Amino acid sequence: MVKTSFKFLTEDNQAVKREGADVIQGLTQTPKTLPPKYLYDDRGSELFEEICELPEYYPTRTEASILRQCADEIAEITGSCELVELGSGSSTKTRFLLDAYQRIPGFCKYVPIDVSGGILKSSVLQLQHEYPNLSIEGLIGTYEQALAKLESITVPSRMIFFLGSSIGNFTPTDYNRFLTQISQTLRSGDYFLLGVDLQKPKAILEAAYNDKQEVTAAFNLNMLSHLNWRFRANFDTSLFRHEAIYNQADAQIEMYLHCLKSHWVSLEILDLNVFFEVGESILTEISRKFDLAVLEKQLEFQSLKTLKVWTDQNQWFGLILCQA
Ligand code: AVJ
Repeated sequence: MVKTSFKFLTEDNQAVKREGADVIQGLTQTPKTLPPKYLYDDRGSELFEEICELPEYYPTRTEASILRQCADEIAEITGSCELVELGSGSSTKTRFLLDAYQRIPGFCKYVPIDVSGGILKSSVLQLQHEYPNLSIEGLIGTYEQALAKLESITVPSRMIFFLGSSIGNFTPTDYNRFLTQISQTLRSGDYFLLGVDLQKPKAILEAAYNDKQEVTAAFNLNMLSHLNWRFRANFDTSLFRHEAIYNQADAQIEMYLHCLKSHWVSLEILDLNVFFEVGESILTEISRKFDLAVLEKQLEFQSLKTLKVWTDQNQWFGLILCQA
């Protein structure tokens, strides 16, 4: 039985306001920060798709080339299972996995999860057309909402996968909390497939996040436009400038919006007025770069044992398959 469905995991206005608590917290602290999930409204997801095609932005195509080569092996190791993807976006790279799982017997279901409803809907409709035998259930919501939802569903076996090094967006604290949540959601024997961007020279990293065509700049600034519609705010994007730097000590890219002129901004739905000083910066995203040996130990600590690791010839990107 083929079924396509969508669930909005946030619905009422009060919920929007409660969710905005993280915006209030970030904008009232010094230095100011904003949660990277606000990069992804529908426009933001479109811009991210453009980033993935940029010559400087190596992660997407490197991970795709690894997946192309190891997808069959992954499907053979895990056997038929429910495939749950966190931050599925356009599900482009997922097709390597879907193809591989279609080649083994008894493949059941694909559950893509994304905060951006627009891109999720269009990609599910497109996938349903390309994979008519596949059961697809899209979930529109945050990782936390979706993982909490999954716990109640019983399936024979499940693989949660998280590609593109999106895990790099978490601060160390949130990262540990996230891995714990993954570990608790998986039953013993279930799988976790994780794609991570690896440490490499600063120049390569900074070029990837400060592209010549300034798509990354538009992506970063779009976060303010997103806050404008979601929280009835009045950010003027022309008063901010994008910059990404590689913080070598913490092995992370830091993406900033620098304020070009002192001014006030109001976020009506959040009952918040914020003053921005010329020269001050908002940290909008960190993108941590990993060391495979360290990562394996951290996974192990969360009772996720590494079954196999794949990487490209430059060792720029890694893909880790773990079992709970
Ligand atoms: C989707 C979080 C993996 O950190 O490389 C791309 C987002 N930000 N360019 C990354 C991003 C700027 C991306 N992740």
